[in-house]
Amino acid sequence: MTYRIAVIPGDGVGPEVIREGLKVLDSVAEVYNVKFDFRFYPYGGGYYLKTGEVLPDEALKEIGGMDAIYFGAVGHPEVPPGVLERGLLLKLRFYFDQYVNLRPVTLYPGVETPLKGKGSQDINFYVVRENTEDFYVGLGCRFRSDRYKANLNVKRRLYSLRFNVETLADKPEELAYQIGVITRRGAERVIRYAFDFCRRRGLKRVSSVDKANVLSEIYGLWRDVFNEVSKDYPEIETEFTFVDAMAMWFVKNPERFQVVVAPNMFGDILTDLGAIIQGGMGLAPSGNINPEGVSMFEPIHGSAPKYAGKGLANPIAAILAGKLMLEHFGENEAAQAIDNAVKKVLVEGKVRPRDLGGKASTSEVGDAVAEKISKQ
Ligand code: IPM
Ligand code: MN
Repeated sequence: MTYRIAVIPGDGVGPEVIREGLKVLDSVAEVYNVKFDFRFYPYGGGYYLKTGEVLPDEALKEIGGMDAIYFGAVGHPEVPPGVLERGLLLKLRFYFDQYVNLRPVTLYPGVETPLKGKGSQDINFYVVRENTEDFYVGLGCRFRSDRYKANLNVKRRLYSLRFNVETLADKPEELAYQIGVITRRGAERVIRYAFDFCRRRGLKRVSSVDKANVLSEIYGLWRDVFNEVSKDYPEIETEFTFVDAMAMWFVKNPERFQVVVAPNMFGDILTDLGAIIQGGMGLAPSGNINPEGVSMFEPIHGSAPKYAGKGLANPIAAILAGKLMLEHFGENEAAQAIDNAVKKVLVEGKVRPRDLGGKASTSEVGDAVAEKISKQ
């Protein structure tokens, strides 16, 4: 089977870690019955600064005909924050309607967690993050009392929440708001994915994250949908946890979790916490999944411009993103081979990435993993 993959290495350390991920995928292709046809795209901060273009529509169309996207990282010190995040990464997620962001939190053997007394048997769960709604929809406004006269009425009403309108005349005030949106359909499809995933993997509990005690409109809907969907999975245990408490439980009792389903922003925040308890950003992969469309696989870490081009970055997160991609294709044997190879390298400890206290360069880690790939 040949898979056509759009490769977008992006900025900073993105290209270095993707290079190693491709190395590992190539060695998988030598041993297992899979082939890859990689097509490279130059998008990212450098390309934007040169051309003024973030992601052209023709590229989106072309990528729409491919089997998956393998993505490095976005973020460039000379590009204002938001331009690339919104214009490239979120654009891809939204355009291809990748409504599931699957983020495994797995402490590999041979890696230390900062959590005292916890080992790889305790930290092994999945966060299913909703990936298209919530506070990521980009609905918001910012007002200054001495501008935007046309919006005076709206402005007055908003100001009356916090400011005395009378005082506005002599002193410009500012106010901004941003709206989170949850739809029944959007919540249902990702919650159903989480339950199906739980069942498919033979796991027994799905934990839902929200903040329905304060943001009761949007997360009230999320809760209702979770309750309804859960009825179709009577064998699966469920629980609701507020996001603040969840942050505590991730640290205190990570062994409790198997599948955690979360709205977009809470999922974003919790998976950075998840990344650190599994040993660091260098080990945390992510899949942006549209089960019926084009999915995208990337490390959770960003472009880390400080470390770019120095061979310091740990490529394991990108390599494990490749593993998630193979699982998504149903190439379970090949995916397992990558996982086993990573485990061997980490347990042996001879070739150890810098962020785990070793001395190996990005490409040495990639070489070591690629070498361990074999028919098992
Ligand atoms: C992530 C990142 C992105 C997000 C940013 C770069 C837009 O933090 O993948 O977790 O917030 O989703
Ligand atoms: Mn994030």
